[in-house]
Amino acid sequence: MDGNGRWARRRNLPRTAGHTEGEENLAAVVRLAVKREIGWLTVFGFSTENWVRPRLEVRHILGLHKKLFGRVAELNELNVRVQWIGRPFDSPEARTPGYVQKAIIKAINDTAANTGMVLTVAFDYGSRAEIVHAAEAAVAGGCTRVTVEDLDKGMYLAELPPVDVVVRTSGERRISNFLLWQSAGARVYFTEQTWPDFGAPELDAAIAVARQ
Ligand code: IPE
Ligand code: MG
Repeated sequence: MDGNGRWARRRNLPRTAGHTEGEENLAAVVRLAVKREIGWLTVFGFSTENWVRPRLEVRHILGLHKKLFGRVAELNELNVRVQWIGRPFDSPEARTPGYVQKAIIKAINDTAANTGMVLTVAFDYGSRAEIVHAAEAAVAGGCTRVTVEDLDKGMYLAELPPVDVVVRTSGERRISNFLLWQSAGARVYFTEQTWPDFGAPELDAAIAVARQ
């Protein structure tokens, strides 16, 4: 969900206002995705590389994730099941603070019975760390020859299906350590639109790319 900062700068607003708007827009895109009958929507909320940002900005983004995972009533109304991927809370490198962990766990539990779209939020997530985690799990499980299936099983969320289309907003043309393993066969959709301005035209264009 890239481009919150640029969205704010163009309006002479602080970067934090862009993040706030981005969180609101995610709620809107989730509603839209449900209408389009998308089965799986995975969003990059915060990466393992993002912790170096100014403290106040990080704190603001953390608060927004607490808010996002707190939208349980709304998600239940939409029959959306919440999932999360990121460095496991008990791993030594994990950086998700306790109050965000609690919100994540509560959202997962309180939406677990929903049967519609699965919304997965990547938070404290990095794809290379995930692949290393999967390899370590395979080795710890006694694998001497690690296979593709072993690594599939060791991903943070083994149920996550292969990615149909990766969407990159805000004119960036990079993948940036997102779902590298799962995107082996994915198409890619680039848009100049910043994340807070990402709407139905872009979502529909991405769906069209996925169906090509
Ligand atoms: C995405 O917006 C939000 C996060 C990475 C948390 P940016 O903050 O990266 O926005 P730009 O790239 O400065 O426009
Ligand atoms: Mg950015």
